[in-house]
Parts: sequence; C-alpha cells; structure tokens
Amino acid sequence: MSALASQQTRTLQLVYGSDGSGDLCQPDNVQFLADSMAVRVDVVVADGGFAGARGRFDQEAAMLPLLISEASAMIQTLQPKGCFVCKFFDMTLPGTVQLVALLALLFERVTVVKPVMSRPASSERYFLGQGFRGFDEEESKEGAVSTRQARVLLNEMLALATAGQTCGTPVDGGEGGKQALITSMRQALARGSPFVAWLRAVNDKLMRSQVEACYAIHARLEMEEGEGEGERSAHEEEESAIDVDSYRQIWGLDKLHTSHRKEQ
Ligand SMILES: C[S@@+](CC[C@H](N)C(=O)[O-])C[C@H]1O[C@@H](n2cnc3c(N)ncnc32)[C@H](O)[C@@H]1O
Repeated sequence: MSALASQQTRTLQLVYGSDGSGDLCQPDNVQFLADSMAVRVDVVVADGGFAGARGRFDQEAAMLPLLISEASAMIQTLQPKGCFVCKFFDMTLPGTVQLVALLALLFERVTVVKPVMSRPASSERYFLGQGFRGFDEEESKEGAVSTRQARVLLNEMLALATAGQTCGTPVDGGEGGKQALITSMRQALARGSPFVAWLRAVNDKLMRSQVEACYAIHARLEMEEGEGEGERSAHEEEESAIDVDSYRQIWGLDKLHTSHRKEQ
C-alpha cells in the first residue's frame, strides 16, 4: 500500500448515523456524526442530491429538508473561521431564502457560484461561506452566532420543510439567543434589505447565464448538424469529436431543440 493510500485509510471514516441508514435528514444521525468526530474541521462540503428530485418541477422544495440537514451537520462539525461549500438548486422559495439568510449570518463572507463545468440546464449552484462565525458558547460573542441556537432554529425549519411547509416562518419566542437570531433573520429578509437585493441579483444572473449557455450550446449543435461530413478535414473531424446527441440528451436540450425546429 502506498504512503498516500495508507494515510487515506487512517483518515477516512464513513459514518452512517445512529440508525445505520446514513440519512442526514434524521437529526439523531447528524448528532451521531458530530459526536463521532474527534475535532471540528476546517472545511465542510455538501453535495447532497437524489435522482427522485432531478427534473421535478418542485425540485427546490424536495431538496429543502436535505439542505437544512446539511447546514445542521456543518454547524456541529465546522470550526470557527472554517469554510462551507454546499450545493443548492434554485433559491426562490421562502424556505430556501430563509436558509440562505441564516447561513449568511453564520459566515463573514458568502457567495454563490455556478462553476463552468456545472450543467447549464441544471439550476445547481454552490453556496460558499468563508469565516464561520459559530461558537459553542451559550451566549453569542460579539459578531458570532451561538451554534446551539442556530441548531434549534434549523431543527424547527427541518420539521416545517419535512411537513411540506416551505414558507414557514421560524417560531417566535424561546430563549434570548434564538430570538436574537430570528430578529437578525427577519432584518435580513425585510423588503428592500441588502440581502434580498443580493439574492435576487444572484438568481437573475444565474438564470440569464443558464439560458444564454443553453442557447449557445443549441446554436453550436445546429452548426454541427449543418456542416456536411464530407467538408471536414480529418483533423477537424478529430478536433470536433463531440457526441452531439449525448450532450443534447444529458443537458436536457431535446425539448429546446424540437420546439426551435418546429418554429422554423
Ligand atoms: C451528487 S451525489 C454526491 C456525490 C459525491 N460528491 C461524490 O463525489 O461521491 C448526491 C449524494 O447525496 C446522497 N443523499 C441523498 N439524500 C441523502 C440523505 N437524506 N442523507 C444523506 N445523503 C443523501 C446520495 O446518496 C448521493 O450519494
């Protein structure tokens, strides 16, 4: 075994939760994960998704319980100043916007990116949080957030999302720390707030670039088809060794292609 492989064996530990299912949407499994870690980590990445949600008109709502659970796991395992990368899909439903607002309070810097390699027909994008402001203490330090209170809030949001109530507002009241968080979230979510304007700009920008990319790919496919096979040199043939049909199929461009053709 190579040195690298043996190191990986030493450091990689798979955790399936207290019920052995590996289902992160069970709060006990998140707790089990946190308890099984000797130390908090520098980076948490979450790439959750399931085939059943793909292409569904309500994909965003279907994903919400898992996203909340991933945030909950992050809060219990990331160390102060650490980074969080999490795959989201659309960010338009009140429940998703609320979750992003809470995450924005938990990090010094946040951004949302869609890497070039990400399929343009998919609304997937990545939340990136840098400089985790969570602290284990009961009372928040100035500028920090009590991880315990954030967890309580996330568990409430999870219960609402699991019940299909994606527009639920966190319940008022409770202990001081939680109430302070709710107040901060409400401020972030207020009409005309910088957070709401920022998230709207992110959504608009991503939607535009997705549509533009899909049309550009479509135009390229049309061009590929328009070019006669015999007119290309052997070199060009090799250069453009693209399986056009598989791209069209995988990126879900079939419908776009068909409707465009019908219009002509
Ligand atoms: C896109 S894949 C992630 C692939 C991963 N980045 C990798 O390189 O292997 C999405 C993963 O989310 C997992 N997943 C879906 N629902 C989950 C849940 N409730 N709890 C834990 N994992 C879940 C799926 O089993 C799947 O492995």
